[in-house]
Amino acid sequence: MINASKYLKKICVNASSEYDVVIGNGAIDLAGELISALGGGSGSGNAFCGCPGCGKASKLLLVSDDTVYSLYGEKAAETLKKAGFELSEFVFPHGESSKNLDTYAGILSRALESGLTRNDMFVALGGGVTGDLAGFAAATFKRGIRFVQIPTTLLSAVDASVGGKTGIDLDGGKNQVGAFHQPSLVLCDPELLETLPEDQFRSGLAEVIKTAMIADEALFETLARYKDLQEFRADKEGLIKVTGRCVEIKRDIVLADEFDRGERMLLNFGHPVGHGIEAKSGFAMLHGFAVAAGMAVAARAACNRNYCPDAVPAALETVLEKFGLPADTEYGADDILPFIYGDKKAAGKLINLVVPRSIGKCEITPLPLSGLEEFLYDGGLR
Ligand code: GLY
Repeated sequence: MINASKYLKKICVNASSEYDVVIGNGAIDLAGELISALGGGSGSGNAFCGCPGCGKASKLLLVSDDTVYSLYGEKAAETLKKAGFELSEFVFPHGESSKNLDTYAGILSRALESGLTRNDMFVALGGGVTGDLAGFAAATFKRGIRFVQIPTTLLSAVDASVGGKTGIDLDGGKNQVGAFHQPSLVLCDPELLETLPEDQFRSGLAEVIKTAMIADEALFETLARYKDLQEFRADKEGLIKVTGRCVEIKRDIVLADEFDRGERMLLNFGHPVGHGIEAKSGFAMLHGFAVAAGMAVAARAACNRNYCPDAVPAALETVLEKFGLPADTEYGADDILPFIYGDKKAAGKLINLVVPRSIGKCEITPLPLSGLEEFLYDGGLR
C-alpha cells in the first residue's frame, strides 16, 4: 500500500481487493507517482494482491469527458507520462446520456487499439458518469483489469468513486448493466472541485448530508454550523475533513456489505423518492437535488409514523435549505409513483425504504409496495 504520510489523508478500504483513498490538495500532481507505486511505469512498487492483472503496468488509458478533460486532462497526462507510462486517451461528450453501450464499446476499442494488456490500467478522470463507465469497462476488458478513480465532482468524491459499483444505462433505465469492481486507488484532490458549477456542488452536498443522516450526528452538526454554501466551499480544510469522513463512513458500510444485500442499502436514504422525482423531471433535475427532496419526504413520513421525533425532519429541512437544496417537491404522489414502482429497488412486492430514527441513525424498513402511496402522503406529497 501507499506510504501517504506526506498526504493529508489516506483511508484504506479492505474490500474484496484492498485499496487506498488518498485525499489532499494538489494530489492530482502525484497521480503518476501513486499509480506507479501500485506496480507500473518506472516505479518499483508491486502491490498485486489478487488484482486481475499480476504484472507491471506499462500502459494507461485515461478516460474523461470533454468538459473535465479540457480543464484537467493535460495536468493528468503530464504526471502519468512523467511516471513512465505510455498513455492513450478516450474523451467522450459530458453528461448522463453518454453512459451507454456506445461509449462503453468506444472505451474498449480504444484500449484494444492502444494495445493495453491485462496488466495495464484505466484511469477515470471525472464525475460519476466517467467513473461508472471506465470502471465497467475495466471490469470487463480482458475479463477485468485495474482502474484508478480521480473524482472531479463532490458527489463522486464522497460517494460514487468508492465502493466498486460500476455500470451503464440502457434504454430501460439507469445502471441496468454493471459489475462490482473495486478501484485500485482513489485519488481525491479537493482543488479539482474549485471549477465545479455551484449546482453540481450542491448536488454533491446532498450526498454528504445523506451520509451524515445515516451514520454520523457529529458530521451533521458540523454541516449545520456553516452559514451557507459559500462558507462551506471556502473552508478548504473543512472540505477535506468532511470528504474524508464521508469516505470513512462509506468504506465501513461497503466493508459490512460489499455486494449490496443488506446494510449498504442505507446509502439509498432518500433515493427511491429521489429517483422518482429525477425521472419525472426527465432527468432535468440534478441527482442530489432530487435526493434532497426524497430525504425530506422520507423523514417527514418517518416522523408521522413515530419512527423519529419532529426535530429530525425539522433539522434536516433546515440544513437542506441553508445549502440551497429542496426539502419538498412540486410533484404529487401520482406523478412519481410509476417511476418508483419501476425502479430496481422495488424488489418483488416489497420496497426497502430507509427511514431516520434520529440524526445520524437510519434503518432499513421493508414496506409493501401497496403502502407506498400512503407513505408519500405522510411525507407531505399530495
Ligand atoms: N452509491 C450507493 C452505493 O454505492 O451503494
